[in-house]
Amino acid sequence: MNFSEQLKSQLDIVEVVKHYGVALKRQGSGTRYVGLCPFHSEKSPSFSVQSALGYYHCFGCGVGGDVFKFVQQIESLTFPETLKVLAERYGIPMPDRQRSNDPETQRYAALLEMHEIAASAFQDNLRGSTGVEARRYLESRGVARAAIDEFRLGLSEASGQQLVQRLQKFGPELMEESGLVRKRESGGYYDYFRGRLMFPIHNEAGKTIGFGGRALRADDEPKYLNSPTTKLYDKKTVLYNLHRAKIDARRQERMILVEGYMDVIGIYSAGIHEVVSVSGTALGNEQVRAIKRQISQQQSTIGQIILNLDSDKAGARATEKHIAPLLAEGLRVKVLEIPGGLDPDEYIQQNGAEAYRKVLGGAGSYFHWLADRARSNFDMATAEGRMDAFKFLWPTVQQVHDKLERSVIASELAEYLNIDRDEIRRQFSRSPAAQARRPLDVSSTVAPNEKLLLACLLSSAEARAAIRHYRASADFPGQLELRNVFESILRFDEEMAAFSLDAILVELEPRLQRILTEVSFAEMGVREEDAAGQALHCLAALEAKALSGQREALRQQIRELEQAGKFPEALRLADQLNRIKRSALGA
Ligand code: UTP
Ligand code: MN
Repeated sequence: MNFSEQLKSQLDIVEVVKHYGVALKRQGSGTRYVGLCPFHSEKSPSFSVQSALGYYHCFGCGVGGDVFKFVQQIESLTFPETLKVLAERYGIPMPDRQRSNDPETQRYAALLEMHEIAASAFQDNLRGSTGVEARRYLESRGVARAAIDEFRLGLSEASGQQLVQRLQKFGPELMEESGLVRKRESGGYYDYFRGRLMFPIHNEAGKTIGFGGRALRADDEPKYLNSPTTKLYDKKTVLYNLHRAKIDARRQERMILVEGYMDVIGIYSAGIHEVVSVSGTALGNEQVRAIKRQISQQQSTIGQIILNLDSDKAGARATEKHIAPLLAEGLRVKVLEIPGGLDPDEYIQQNGAEAYRKVLGGAGSYFHWLADRARSNFDMATAEGRMDAFKFLWPTVQQVHDKLERSVIASELAEYLNIDRDEIRRQFSRSPAAQARRPLDVSSTVAPNEKLLLACLLSSAEARAAIRHYRASADFPGQLELRNVFESILRFDEEMAAFSLDAILVELEPRLQRILTEVSFAEMGVREEDAAGQALHCLAALEAKALSGQREALRQQIRELEQAGKFPEALRLADQLNRIKRSALGA
């Protein structure tokens, strides 16, 4: 057993899942638990954990895997990070080898190290004699020394050779992969960031994974240069400041989303820590879930997100775009538009922390913000304009899952836009998202005895041994729909010390994967004390069914041959039919 297998065998998936605030309830006396899915918002539980198999699956959103996959998903960690976190949390000693063993882990660790070297170099530059101008700039924008240190702000060297030199020891391949240096067409390398004010970007674990670099001169384009996408960094999934925002976001059950690095730093320095930003992109699903994980720890509470983007056209458009995916995850969304067209950072600089707290407290629901926009963008004097305003609001409000809330919004909207109330209410009572969330039932066409056999094999090593014994001397009866699943289970059971569902899942085609997952979570009525007997019984019944199918086919053929006057052939088949009958009686 390698370390990950060893670790897995010591972990209880139910306990690990509960650690993340998922209230799991045991189903009957079995090994199956259900609760509300932490990966999407839902009212009735479709998230299941099969403790005996160490496996989870959500029938609502389709996520699933083993205990490592769960932690990886919920914490946005890499596989090696996941092992480390779990080993530390449950006090299981980790061999040193584990960290440097596999080449993928090594590369990842090297890339992190390179980013750490870069961050330190940038910090030193800013503190040193070349940093005078940049320090003055920060001062002019009201960034205090403490914030400079806390956010590890830095300065990239203008020569373009500093990182090239410091990262040389990692070799050309890793240097390029890091995104920190670039290859020149004429040969040689140069630093990607030159003469810029540097904002290190961290992952949830607090490791530097990329940078944003702000131009210090007005003629330097672009204003912000971000790290390219690398193994460590993808701007579509990262939230700036998330690792610092976490603690207060959980405590306050709210998160503020702003547009820029400077806004984050300004608000954070004003003593409000639960603030993050995206890097000029649309809000991706992973980002929404990362926010939700922080602010909806308890299932009874719904976290609140306050959108406080720039008060210009681009900021308003971005706000509009961010609302729908947040609502779709069931979050309460508010919009804060600062009076006077100021950015949050500018507002704090001019009016102070207390004033900002105050406007923040007064932030209104997204709905009023949207409706106001609709009213100012469309001609509300005409019925046509009002309908256009309605159509503009419709897709966003449609994301609201709760039926009652939707109908409240419908009334408000009708009043606001002065449109026929009933017409709107009719539209609002249907949520397409709700309709799409039907439970899966791919296995409904599979013969009950095959499903029960599968359930026995999954839940009992004795059943697997019994069927393996059977299989050693005879083939499975013909036309089993789940033949490949059975064969995989027997093979893996033999090869592996610990029987594991995901090892089997990866080698099956998608339909069989879904059937396997479904059956492993279904209440199939396996009798634990006698799963082996039950399995053999299923198999016998399936055999009998296969035989009777064969017999029926033979009879049909015989009839056809007789009708065609081919008596010798018919006789030969009749003989065969008799043999089958006899062997069936003998069995
Ligand atoms: P802003 O231009 O509003 O940045 O862009 P800001 O943070 O308020 O900067 P200051 O106050 O002028 O210094 C908002 C965000 O959009 C991304 C950056 O993440 C920035 O923080 N952006 C902007 C880019 O990635 N590239 C750009 O050229 C401009
Ligand atoms: Mn800005």
